[in-house]
Amino acid sequence: MELNKSDNRGNWSSKLGFILAAAGSAIGLGNIWAYPSKVADNGGAAFILIYVLCCFLVGYPIMVSELAIGRKTGKSPFGAFRSFGAPKFFGIVGLWGILCGFMILSFYNVVAGWTLSYVFEEIFFFAGNADLANWFGDLGNGHKNAVFSIIFMFLTIGIITGGVAEGIEKATKIMMPALLAILLFMIAFVFTQDGASEGLIYYIKPDFSKITFDLFFKAMGQAFFSLSLGMGTLITYGSYLNKKANIPQAAFYVTMADLSIAFLAGLLIIPAMFVAQSSGVTIFDEAGNLIASTTLVFNALPNLFHSMHPLLGLFSGVLFFLLLSMAALTSTISLLEVPVSYVIDEFKVKRKVAAYIIGFAILSVSLAIAYNLNLIDLFSTIFNDIGLPLGGFMISIFLVYVWKTNNALIELNNGYDGIDSSFFGKLWPFMVKYISPVLIGIVFFQTIYSLIR
Ligand code: PHE
Repeated sequence: MELNKSDNRGNWSSKLGFILAAAGSAIGLGNIWAYPSKVADNGGAAFILIYVLCCFLVGYPIMVSELAIGRKTGKSPFGAFRSFGAPKFFGIVGLWGILCGFMILSFYNVVAGWTLSYVFEEIFFFAGNADLANWFGDLGNGHKNAVFSIIFMFLTIGIITGGVAEGIEKATKIMMPALLAILLFMIAFVFTQDGASEGLIYYIKPDFSKITFDLFFKAMGQAFFSLSLGMGTLITYGSYLNKKANIPQAAFYVTMADLSIAFLAGLLIIPAMFVAQSSGVTIFDEAGNLIASTTLVFNALPNLFHSMHPLLGLFSGVLFFLLLSMAALTSTISLLEVPVSYVIDEFKVKRKVAAYIIGFAILSVSLAIAYNLNLIDLFSTIFNDIGLPLGGFMISIFLVYVWKTNNALIELNNGYDGIDSSFFGKLWPFMVKYISPVLIGIVFFQTIYSLIR
């Protein structure tokens, strides 16, 4: 019997299933929508460098912490943070994570709706119906955004009500490999086009003058968002994990998979943007800044698809946006799972009821965003760039001062025999104690300082 695990919580059916589900949570719009535009806006490889550092020095150690806390307590974030005799204050930390998940999902759902509407944009474009193609491709159309947000939320709720192994795990197993295949195919295609190599240079040539604290702040927020950290997603996913799983190894795979997909997405989208430029589309304004980088994916890629042989373009365009929707879906389910598991654990509500109530509550915020897209920036600054690293900071404080790294190592020893004497066993406690929280602290301090200066 696992500690404190109530019977209706569910478990992953296999190690691979868990890794894919966690990777599915990590891989999503963060990789394909947010990462390429952040790289393009922030000095190319200079951003990538800082981003990779954030992933390994801050993200990875916290990912291991979240999974360990989840598996040991068998609870969702709120319950987990009240374990080990923690001061009551930590309950607030858990609730903050749940709130971040709630608000992030509210805008994520709108962007996910765009990915789905672009499937239709592609179909109607190639069917020669420009009016309908434009309608589906219009990101600013509130009614259309609302409809697709509703559809997407129903898809998410549908999978969540299916449960852990049957719902989340099964869906991810098929979708993730397919996404990788289409990404590789599209990269190969984009490099046959004029202008792509210019894009490649833009992507991988570092502009070190862009390295400022603000860039650190953005890279840190992006690392937390992309790795699904800081709000308890991986505490929740860890709570469905059995004792045989090797957490440090699984977390490493997930981090690497997430980084690789982001890197590949950049390799597709930034060159695609330059290909569009060489066919006459303006991508930089007069000051040399990117025009609307948040909509990059939805500008650069359709341009590329439309330039292909019609059959190939139709096939690639539809498949790409379908898979992007699926990647978004494996992330939205992990975002919804956090508040849902909280309600199941704390209020003993049935999974289905919890999923519908929370899902509808989030949807109501999504609908407001569908008509006011500028809320996306505001919410992502508060709940993502600030909220998630703050949560990550508290997770490391919880681990170091409440649970204690020695106890965490005993838990991690399950599935990783002899962890104490391993390189990981020496390095990780040091990282969660000194490196991750201190780096987050410095970046935060600097950001606040520069705001009030
Ligand atoms: N990691 C997901 C993505 O990159 C988003 C996400 C953030 C999911 C936080 C869960 C928790 O798209």
